[in-house]
Amino acid sequence: MGAARKSIEIKELTIVNEIAKILSRGFNLDTALNEVLKSLYAFWDVRYSFIALYDRDSRVLRIVKAYGFTKEEIERGVFKKGEGITGKVFKTGFPVVLTSLPPGESSFINKTQIRDRLEGNESFISVPIKVGGTVIGVLSVFKSFSHRESIEKGLESLMIVGTLLGMFMKLNEELLEKEKEWEEEKKVLTEELKRNMSLEGVVGVSERINTLLEVVRKVALTDSTVLILGESGTGKSLIAKKIHILSDRREKPFITINCAAIPENLLEAELFGYEKGAFTGATARKKGKFELADGGTVFLDEIGDMPLSLQAKLLRVLQDKEVERLGGDRTIRVNVRIIAATNKNLETLVREGKFREDLYYRLNVVPIHIPPLRERKEDIPLLVEYFLEKFNKKYSKSVRFSPEAIRTLMEYPWHGNVRELENIVERLVIMNEGVIRDRELPSHILAYAEVIDIAPSSLPEELEKTERERIEEALKKTGYVKSRAAKLLGYTLRQLDYRIQKYGIEVKRF
Ligand SMILES: Nc1ncnc2c1ncn2[C@@H]1O[C@H](COP(=O)(O)OP(=O)(O)O)[C@@H](O)[C@H]1O
Ligand SMILES: [Mg+2]
Repeated sequence: MGAARKSIEIKELTIVNEIAKILSRGFNLDTALNEVLKSLYAFWDVRYSFIALYDRDSRVLRIVKAYGFTKEEIERGVFKKGEGITGKVFKTGFPVVLTSLPPGESSFINKTQIRDRLEGNESFISVPIKVGGTVIGVLSVFKSFSHRESIEKGLESLMIVGTLLGMFMKLNEELLEKEKEWEEEKKVLTEELKRNMSLEGVVGVSERINTLLEVVRKVALTDSTVLILGESGTGKSLIAKKIHILSDRREKPFITINCAAIPENLLEAELFGYEKGAFTGATARKKGKFELADGGTVFLDEIGDMPLSLQAKLLRVLQDKEVERLGGDRTIRVNVRIIAATNKNLETLVREGKFREDLYYRLNVVPIHIPPLRERKEDIPLLVEYFLEKFNKKYSKSVRFSPEAIRTLMEYPWHGNVRELENIVERLVIMNEGVIRDRELPSHILAYAEVIDIAPSSLPEELEKTERERIEEALKKTGYVKSRAAKLLGYTLRQLDYRIQKYGIEVKRF
């Protein structure tokens, strides 16, 4: 007796295990339900079984998956709430067991009309499928229990299976919702990328970047000197190059000189060139960068690091458009547009006597200030998408980010700005396959996100804002990507859509 009993318990445990394994395998809903009913047959000899789910639209329970049933029987399997045993289990949330369906059993209403095909000794067990406390469907089985099998134990196991199914369906639904969100984000981002084509390679949706690009377009058409200011990695070199490409000088050279990287004595020779014998080692005449760039653009990067001695000579180039080679006595007229850039505060350098005031004013005709990335977080998703595309192509991969991971990237202060973001995306593409979630992000970025999470988010002024204002702000912050705005506000996409309509909020498209 004891031994037999034990073997049955093991068998029931096996079926629960088997089903848990199936549900953890990441099948889609249809396949998973199919496999579950199949394994009920294979491991527990359940020859007929079905899963009915509640359909909110038509307000009935419908068989969505069955084992051993004909197509016609399945089609007949429609139950109103409370109708028959299936309807009753759904309504009450309690399981029902009918042992060996006696012919006169009237609670079994035989909707599917399968009864004629049964042998008559089957028990009918029907258990709820619950998500949290809510019943979403019913799992029913017809099974002949041998005298050695316990119906009670069978019921217990089936109840567990019902719970597992509920959990699986909930996860499945959440996943589908996520997939939809990703699709929407992807669509929005692709559109934004396309709109950016006119200034290809300069990505951004923020107001500040757009204003800046306006200036770039305008100034490109002139010969005016441009001073580009901004922290390291904000895109100063990129913008300088863009100005050149958008200008009439695009066919002529664009020559960059990094004033910080070249030693003082060499810098002068680089810029102005030299005659043969101008100094030891000057064995031949050499043209300077200003001459070489004739008709084009000279980009003086890190201008804040230019030695004072050279600043006077540069001023002359700016004023008179003339250069003199080292060791030469001839002035050479040059036609160049000067673009300069620095991450230093030139005004401070002027005050400290390290930068000539007159040169500063000469350069500062059209200043373009590129804000740090942390002051235009709404550009981050688009930049991430842009770099993803670039590096996926480079490394033949198809890595993508989960919305959570992108949100975490938006929280990080990016002191290395776009360059740092670009480097991290490249590294992540190299190191990962498929979807990058929070846990795949570098720990220093994650650590920052966690700090933000526990910081009090509801400042007093936050509370005083109306719902409408908060929604508008969230939309703006997220570059009008609705799914992201919804996350920020703690709404579902549907809730946000409802409110956008209710308040008549305009969802901008760029
Ligand atoms: N708005 C942007 N869109 C696309 N790429 C950008 C943008 N801003 C910067 N980058 C990229 O980030 C990196 C650093 O930019 P860079 O122009 O070298 O910065 P800086 O000269 O200010 O240090 C480069 O690879 C650049 O192409
Ligand atoms: Mg640079």
